[in-house]
Amino acid sequence: MNDETEELNKRQWQDFFQGYSADWNHLYEGTSYDSYGKRFRAKYAMDFVDKYISSGKRVLDIGCGTGWVSCALARKGYEVTGVDFSAKMLEVADKNAHQMGVDSRCSFILGEIDKLKIKENQFDAIIALGYLEYILDPQPVVSEMYRLLAPSGIVVAQIWNRIRMVQLFNFKEGPGRIANPHGVYLKILKWIQMVRKSDVGHPVSSGLKQPGLMRKWYTPSMLDRTMHQAGFLKHEHRGHLFSGFKYGDRLIFSDKTTILLENGLVRLSQLILFKKMQLLGENYIAVYHRPK
Ligand SMILES: C[S@@+](CC[C@H](N)C(=O)[O-])C[C@H]1O[C@@H](n2cnc3c(N)ncnc32)[C@H](O)[C@@H]1O
Repeated sequence: MNDETEELNKRQWQDFFQGYSADWNHLYEGTSYDSYGKRFRAKYAMDFVDKYISSGKRVLDIGCGTGWVSCALARKGYEVTGVDFSAKMLEVADKNAHQMGVDSRCSFILGEIDKLKIKENQFDAIIALGYLEYILDPQPVVSEMYRLLAPSGIVVAQIWNRIRMVQLFNFKEGPGRIANPHGVYLKILKWIQMVRKSDVGHPVSSGLKQPGLMRKWYTPSMLDRTMHQAGFLKHEHRGHLFSGFKYGDRLIFSDKTTILLENGLVRLSQLILFKKMQLLGENYIAVYHRPK
């Protein structure tokens, strides 16, 4: 991955997010499966922060967007700094902090974390939700996370999982395609191979429906390795979003049914016998710490 491609990709995503702030903010309030997934991801991240650091400590939210999670953490008593390269997202984040009455504990900085030159050892926790996928070469930002964390501080990072189980059931595009039985067979084999190796040859895929934009889809072990390379040690992980069964882009079941199914599958994945299932959710969220 050369620097020019990385830079171009970032600028294109920046443009994309500039136009997305209102929709992103509303996403947290909706009743769709998508909204439910965002709130669930936020809940998992906040549970991890609560579990490993105490209220009043300093949290950095990288790629904070409209600051929904930053503000929720500030409400719990954390001192939060959000960083984002979209000025429009941060305008909404400022408004949210003001409306929630947490502006004294929540501030936002415009920019990219590896270019801001923030003083080292500043934070007790860093969260990165829906952020790493936009960075094609994550090593510089992950090293920066290490530098910014106080010893024993934690990182909560989330990725979209390349080996998500649900893709097997996409009857239009996924490995479950019924029109071509031979295709089904090959895709299932490819998926099993991917799960077994827990790695993929092509870590970068084109993103969403925007031509030319690239998002990085990790497998859980790719994220773990990226973090280990920067010096982090893993505490634990959680996986969720097992139920987004789709035909092409559309959910097969209604949002309500999908959410019910999701609740059941999440419970199942928490039983010891099915714990491994968490590595196959669409969202993988893990907590790592910086050794002393
Ligand atoms: C999918 S949104 C997630 C927002 C937030 N973390 C949340 O969970 O609600 C991704 C955010 O990351 C920001 N972002 C993406 N790449 C970035 C970069 N290189 N530097 C700073 N912010 C970035 C985008 O502007 C956007 O607001």
